[in-house]
Amino acid sequence: MFQKVEAAPPDAILGITEAFLADTNPDKINLSVGQYKDAHGKTPVLRCVKAAEQRLLTEENTKAYLPIDGRQDYDRQVPSLLWGSDSLATSNRVASVQTPGGTAALRVAADFVQSAFPSATVWCSTPTWANHASIFHAAGLKVQYYPYFRAESNGLDFGAMIGSLHNVPAGDAVLLHVCCHNPTGIDPTAEQWSEIAAAAREKQWLPILDFAYQGFGVGLEEDALGLRAISSACDELLVCSSFSKNFGLYRERVGALTALTGDATTTKSVLSRIKKCIRSNYSNPPSHGAAIVATVLSDPGFTKDWHAELAEMRDRINGMRSSFVAGMAKANAPRDFSFIGQQRGMFSFSGLTPQQVDQLRDRFAIYVVRDGRINVAGMTDETMGYLCDSLVSVLEG
Ligand code: LMR
Repeated sequence: MFQKVEAAPPDAILGITEAFLADTNPDKINLSVGQYKDAHGKTPVLRCVKAAEQRLLTEENTKAYLPIDGRQDYDRQVPSLLWGSDSLATSNRVASVQTPGGTAALRVAADFVQSAFPSATVWCSTPTWANHASIFHAAGLKVQYYPYFRAESNGLDFGAMIGSLHNVPAGDAVLLHVCCHNPTGIDPTAEQWSEIAAAAREKQWLPILDFAYQGFGVGLEEDALGLRAISSACDELLVCSSFSKNFGLYRERVGALTALTGDATTTKSVLSRIKKCIRSNYSNPPSHGAAIVATVLSDPGFTKDWHAELAEMRDRINGMRSSFVAGMAKANAPRDFSFIGQQRGMFSFSGLTPQQVDQLRDRFAIYVVRDGRINVAGMTDETMGYLCDSLVSVLEG
């Protein structure tokens, strides 16, 4: 039977890191996967995480299964990160479940939507994270697209986006990136979020909010602007959170799916359906990552350290954005790259064609995603000159 199986193509993002690791060029640079790197090009373990792990090592006293929806303390902390001091943070209209990373949060959300509303289509931005459509398709859902990026201005095509969101049929779902849009780094303004929220309310589609980069844009609170605009306007939504990036817990796989519904009874029903989706997928989540997050968030000292470390990561990325813009100008780039300085989070859309991306890899061992997405968080002062010179050489053909 297996002989008939056709090999799958490498993953559009993680497959690039596989190729990078196999490359023997000492100058190689990996700007593909969305992973923070420090000034030395290393993905560090945060100090607050190490401290929490030390505490866990002495205090953890069982490896018994977690409940299907994960740690209960963690499930209560997640809404506070989403809604801060707003009453929704403690409302019985809200239920969060612990998931193995943001990807599993999306998959559980997709399985829930498919089980409850099998004919719903999920609308994604053009472009969007390379894995979104695969996740929704794998759950048996249809995917369609709304416009987002305008190449001419390297900005948001808001007119086209909102026009399209007004045409999404009631009962469909719309996937929105709450901050640090992946792959473009371009987010709606506060006014634009209000218009998006009004469209969701008026047209009665379900917002699914991908919140993978909270804290990487402007700050933990500021980055939740879009979520809060939508939850003020709409009674129902799903949020898929990831703590891979803001806690640097990539390999621990820690995330959460949160449902907001119109009343406590509905929340209980929705939670029961979500738990059924989890049980037939991975049964119950792994413990370690969520135990770290729960330990940090329950200790005011650790939380303060976390906020400081998150700000350090954010500031370094913004510093790299400025250095990159200056570096490209210094290398006499044939086009203006100042738009990179206005984008937020780890990613920017460079405008490189797939052929230019291939040349960058083959001639200079610089790896970026084939749609032209670059991970700014992977840049360092040390490699900036080589990166800018190589890019200019490719752009000049
Ligand atoms: C990315 O977009 O690079 C990250 O979210 C990692 C991944 O799983 O693709």
